[in-house]
Amino acid sequence: MIPHDTLPANPLAITVIPGDGIGPELIHSAVEVMLGAAALLDMPLAFTEESAGAGTFERTGSALLPGALDRLRAADGVLKGPVGLPGVRNADGTEAGLLGGLLRLGLDTFANVRPIRLRAGVTSVTRFEPGSIDYVIVRENTEGLYLSRGAGVRNHHAAVDQLMITRVGTERIVRFAFETARQRQGAPADGLRRVTCVDKSNVLRSFALFREVFDEVAEDYPDIIADHMYADAAGHALVMQPGRFDVLVMENFLGDILSDVGAATVGGLGMCPSGNIGTDTSYFEPIHGSAPLIAGKDLANPTSQILSAAMLLRSCGRDACARVIEGAVDRAFGEGALSVLAGGSPAGGTAAATAAIVQRLRD
Ligand code: NAD
Ligand code: IPM
Ligand code: MN
Repeated sequence: MIPHDTLPANPLAITVIPGDGIGPELIHSAVEVMLGAAALLDMPLAFTEESAGAGTFERTGSALLPGALDRLRAADGVLKGPVGLPGVRNADGTEAGLLGGLLRLGLDTFANVRPIRLRAGVTSVTRFEPGSIDYVIVRENTEGLYLSRGAGVRNHHAAVDQLMITRVGTERIVRFAFETARQRQGAPADGLRRVTCVDKSNVLRSFALFREVFDEVAEDYPDIIADHMYADAAGHALVMQPGRFDVLVMENFLGDILSDVGAATVGGLGMCPSGNIGTDTSYFEPIHGSAPLIAGKDLANPTSQILSAAMLLRSCGRDACARVIEGAVDRAFGEGALSVLAGGSPAGGTAAATAAIVQRLRD
């Protein structure tokens, strides 16, 4: 009989969703980097693929295949590429190839975690130094305006979508935001732990409830500053004074918009990973879309997908592997082997950017 400690460890079972547009090339890059890091650490990985998105809708009439949610739940980790093609639409005018509603509601991944960080060696369109932008947007992922996805009403003359905020949904996301702040070192500008509630409670009752629940939950976290900012002013401050932010918590639609604003200050969308976090299941993806105009042209920045893979590995308890990947990304930018051009593409292209990161993987 073979002693237990000489048996090979079970491979970590990762399901990838290549998606549409630049998705497949980004997943290809991320898998290459994960395999490189895992080989260094002698950590076996096993990959399976789930077809989903606009291409899948065109082929099958459905963006997600039967049984997909169960297959994703069964995986140790799920890495999703961007999906959607603007030309693939439903009769109501919305896109048919998106997965936001299907996966986020289907898997109840209530917290959308979007770290925004300016890394050394990355040129920003803003005037800030590396290290001075480092915050996390915690976006509520299952209600708000997007709960109306596919449920609004319209006729030829008018259309309405409703924004729903619930006490239970707000409480769990706000608590998640405060717990996230406890894991961090505070805002770059002053080192203080702070959770900023971003809303439009000056105007809408739904947001007034969100803010009320935020204030109630904040009482359980006296060690963390409970901060408020209206969403319009927050959009301004994310560009003017990003260093004041540590963790921000907000409704779904606001989080969608403001995270893209934040991305523009740290080298663009191609720098920004995310996690859709649930109680039992999570999945990880860049915050951006499928960028169809640059697809297949070696122009996409793979960093967002590679950092999403690092977030996935950390969530599976593979911290060392996550650190190896993040370290390689930092070294590639820090040593000038990788840089982002003004339009958001990596200098030298997607494959060269991936190679620069793979070459810098160190145990
Ligand atoms: P987008 O995020 O795809 O692109 C916006 C801009 O950023 C474009 O100029 C694009 O070229 C650039 N860009 C995005 N990612 C980049 C990267 N990694 N490297 C370099 N440049 C990058 O947004 P869009 O054009 O509004 O949407 C395109 C499609 O993606 C639509 O079908 C949309 O619905 C979908 N979408 C999907 C997701 C998702 O799957 N999570 C997210 C957003 C949008
Ligand atoms: C995102 C995207 C998605 C969203 C869409 C494309 C479903 O914009 O993840 O930021 O609306 O949340
Ligand atoms: Mn978005």
